[in-house]
Amino acid sequence: MLEEALEYLSIKPGGYYIDCTLGGGGYTWAIADKVGEKGKVLAIDADKLAIENAKLKIEKLKIKNSFLSHANFRNLSNIIKENFPEPGVKFDGIVFDLGLSSAQLSRETGGFSFKMVEAGLNMAFGRPEDGRQPASPVSPDARRGGPAKRGEQTTEEIVNSWPKDELARILKEYGEERFAWRIAEGIIEERKKLKKERGRGIGTVGELVKIIESAVPAFYKRGKIHPATKTFQALRVATNDELGALSEVLPRAAEALKPGGRLVVISYHSLEDRIVKNFFKENSLKNVKQSKYGEKRQTEKADLKILTKKVIVPSDEEIKNNPRSRSAKLRAAEKL
Ligand SMILES: C[S@@+](CC[C@H](N)C(=O)[O-])C[C@H]1O[C@@H](n2cnc3c(N)ncnc32)[C@H](O)[C@@H]1O
Repeated sequence: MLEEALEYLSIKPGGYYIDCTLGGGGYTWAIADKVGEKGKVLAIDADKLAIENAKLKIEKLKIKNSFLSHANFRNLSNIIKENFPEPGVKFDGIVFDLGLSSAQLSRETGGFSFKMVEAGLNMAFGRPEDGRQPASPVSPDARRGGPAKRGEQTTEEIVNSWPKDELARILKEYGEERFAWRIAEGIIEERKKLKKERGRGIGTVGELVKIIESAVPAFYKRGKIHPATKTFQALRVATNDELGALSEVLPRAAEALKPGGRLVVISYHSLEDRIVKNFFKENSLKNVKQSKYGEKRQTEKADLKILTKKVIVPSDEEIKNNPRSRSAKLRAAEKL
């Protein structure tokens, strides 16, 4: 969706932009190219390797107009203050290409992919990337079950301490997993057994995949996608509190734009898309009141104008070249 994102960002030479999800840098470098020497691009990622790779590129190619921030984008206001300390700096465009980069998915020590059977259960964007997490003590909140502090639990803690109904809820809500209850039950049974046998619970991707495979019916294993796909997605969303981060950052991003500045969000999950859609709607129709004669009137100035009345989806061509893009949805708005 790079072409579409660039089109909606409507990049101005000399403009100031933020790429909140650097990843492999596809968007950052394309924007940097278009803004030219006088423009600036701030690229953010919670993933250390994404930042390190971009740093090498900046040094090697002596790129002068791009800056990096290794941080969670939910802290956007502070990230902006740190990188642009002069007061009142506003931006011409801010883009989010949410989710996981292909590099994260194929990283052997990652834990994001159900194919990396030896990897530890570590699906956090911003934690040590080099393999297995040391078994971390479970926080009192986590022991009580359910989310402790937002985004502060490891995947291993979630899998080994959350109660069954809470696990089933995230598998259903975040993963749209139809066998959520069976999988949650399988996780509870196996972690009990493992804790008894070896003093600690489920520890690796391979162990979790086996549990999922034994919990679901045989036909499900012959389906188009791997039976662990949805569970892994749900655990990743929960580990990173991805929906919370998105809800928190959107108002901060809108605030940071100049009038006429563009906000572009590409999401890969229906719940994320709903958050973006509702945010755009609420901020483009502030305080609309209906009179007793049925006439609608806006009593407060709106902050945003929606540019994508209909959500933008990838072309057939793009889906063919990159099947992972099939669930992508792009929405864009302009600051008024
Ligand atoms: C789909 S990739 C971006 C790909 C990028 N547009 C490119 O062209 O290569 C998403 C990136 O966003 C990062 N990310 C996701 N949520 C984040 C958050 N809350 N804060 C910072 N980075 C985040 C991930 O670590 C990942 O590198």
